Amino acid sequence: MAISQSFVEELKSRIEIEELIGGYVKLRRQGSNLSGLCPFHSEKTPSFTVFVGSQSYYCFGCHAGGDAITFVRAIEHLDYVEAVKVLADRAGMTVPEEQRDKESAVRRADLLELNRIAARWFHEQLRASPDAIRYLVGRGLQEKTIVHFGLGYAPPEWDGLLKHLKQQGFSEPDIRRAGLAAVSKQGSYYDYFRNRVMFPIIDVRGKVIGFGGRVTDDSKPKYLNSPDTPVFKKSQSLFSLCNAKGTGGERLILAEGYLDVISLWQAGFPEAVATLGTALTGEQSRLMARYAKEIVIAYDMDDAGRRASLRASDLLTAAGLKVRMLQLDGAKDPDEYLRVHGADRLHAQLNRAENFVEYKLSRAAEKLDLTKSDGKVAYLREAAVILADLQSPIERDVYAGHVAAQLGVEKENLLIEVRRLRRSYAKKAQQQELTQQERQLKTGVGRLNPEKARNLRASRAEEGILCLLFDHPDYFDEMRQALSPDDFVTAFNRRVLVAFEEAIARGDRPDLASLTEDFSVEEIGAVQGILLGRDRFAGTREELRELIETLDGCRRRGDIREISMDEQALRSYLHSMADKK
Ligand code: CTP
Ligand code: MN
Repeated sequence: MAISQSFVEELKSRIEIEELIGGYVKLRRQGSNLSGLCPFHSEKTPSFTVFVGSQSYYCFGCHAGGDAITFVRAIEHLDYVEAVKVLADRAGMTVPEEQRDKESAVRRADLLELNRIAARWFHEQLRASPDAIRYLVGRGLQEKTIVHFGLGYAPPEWDGLLKHLKQQGFSEPDIRRAGLAAVSKQGSYYDYFRNRVMFPIIDVRGKVIGFGGRVTDDSKPKYLNSPDTPVFKKSQSLFSLCNAKGTGGERLILAEGYLDVISLWQAGFPEAVATLGTALTGEQSRLMARYAKEIVIAYDMDDAGRRASLRASDLLTAAGLKVRMLQLDGAKDPDEYLRVHGADRLHAQLNRAENFVEYKLSRAAEKLDLTKSDGKVAYLREAAVILADLQSPIERDVYAGHVAAQLGVEKENLLIEVRRLRRSYAKKAQQQELTQQERQLKTGVGRLNPEKARNLRASRAEEGILCLLFDHPDYFDEMRQALSPDDFVTAFNRRVLVAFEEAIARGDRPDLASLTEDFSVEEIGAVQGILLGRDRFAGTREELRELIETLDGCRRRGDIREISMDEQALRSYLHSMADKK
């Protein structure tokens, strides 16, 4: 391990986990702990708990859990070393340089450096390609915009960028790892992007993490995006968030495409972002929620765009954002609207954007004839479904009033139907959350410790031993005389025991931080789940002995299912060799 345990302990002692997590999750006090809606999965009733005493957290729904470092790793998608750095910044500490884990940090730094050099090279190629410049200018972009976004051009040759990067000392496999080269069946490397105008994707820290590339004619595919790499996850990134995040307002505009966002920026709307060739994800919605309170969806005005808007609005609402819908009359997308009507019209249109309830109600009314009884009934049904989704009783009341007035019916009758729907939704949601929890018990924990299901008794004993050692490191010697990590039946628990053993050998207490980067955030969550079982025990040496005996008994009775005959034969052979010595 590269960062010393003492540094990490000092760091953790300076961070208050409730304050750290409180910056991301609205927490309510519950006894001595705090609880809130889990930021790692979507839920309506809080199953996420912050334990103030042990400075840790756990979600009883999705089994995310750990300490402050794990939280930052998981929520910011950072690796262990980066998370420690973020927390150190927050605590006003400096991670000692020589102690940093070079390898993973260096590898990420290399990929970012490759992307940075590639972006510069693409930009230089653009300056030397009149046709590509003509294309961008033809799309209405000014020079300052092209420079601001660092737009570029990938020439048609197969190895222009490869040659350039190799000259700078990068290896072909690393260039491929950065998503800038591909490998042919014959095993030779070639440029991933060719003959395309290039849009660098820049993260909130200003690092180029990937690219989108567009053809300049009608060839296919129209857009090509960097593959996911260790520094680029399409589902977690947004184009131009680096420009949008600092704009001070509380509103972001969500558009469909790169060129929509760039035209919007150029017209004085820097708050526009776009997804990267995929449908909006929950992660992207929560990312936006960190920078804004309200999203105006400015998707294309075709059927696909409308369907996508409806899906996006649900995700954004779930992330706690207000959603409004931009209507673009006489244009297919914001880019075209700006060219046809100009920035002032768009500005007015943005302020007039219907909120999502109004939008849904008008869409529902559009296809019905409200002068006929059939139409009225159908509209009231749809309106009830739309209103039932609203969390605020005031909003439900206000919109029910609008709809009732529009049709000349009693508001109260509509509200009765809305309440009936809400009760049935609540029931369904509860059932769903239960089955979700059951499923995750099976898949989540089961995936991390696949041997557990077949060795329930043994693995429960192992978990008990881990719990006791966690609170009583002084029991370690006694345990070690009776048992070695090899005697643990499940590989996952064995790894945890070894990590605890290493911590104790260094003179530290076992702690979630002793798991460090050898454990993924999911695995740390599973360990946190195990350790929450500590209150089953009084913490006596007697309990430890019983657990060791139980585990021993499981092994003697041949309860251990997963050890194959060969391995057992090998073990008894090794034992007999040891006896002979
Ligand atoms: N997209 C993609 N791959 C494609 C087509 C589209 O990844 N083959 C993504 C791109 O991020 C693009 C967005 O979807 O910016 C919108 O696509 P589309 O509506 O087809 O493009 P236009 O908005 O018409 O783009 P342009 O204005 O460049 O023609
Ligand atoms: Mn479009």
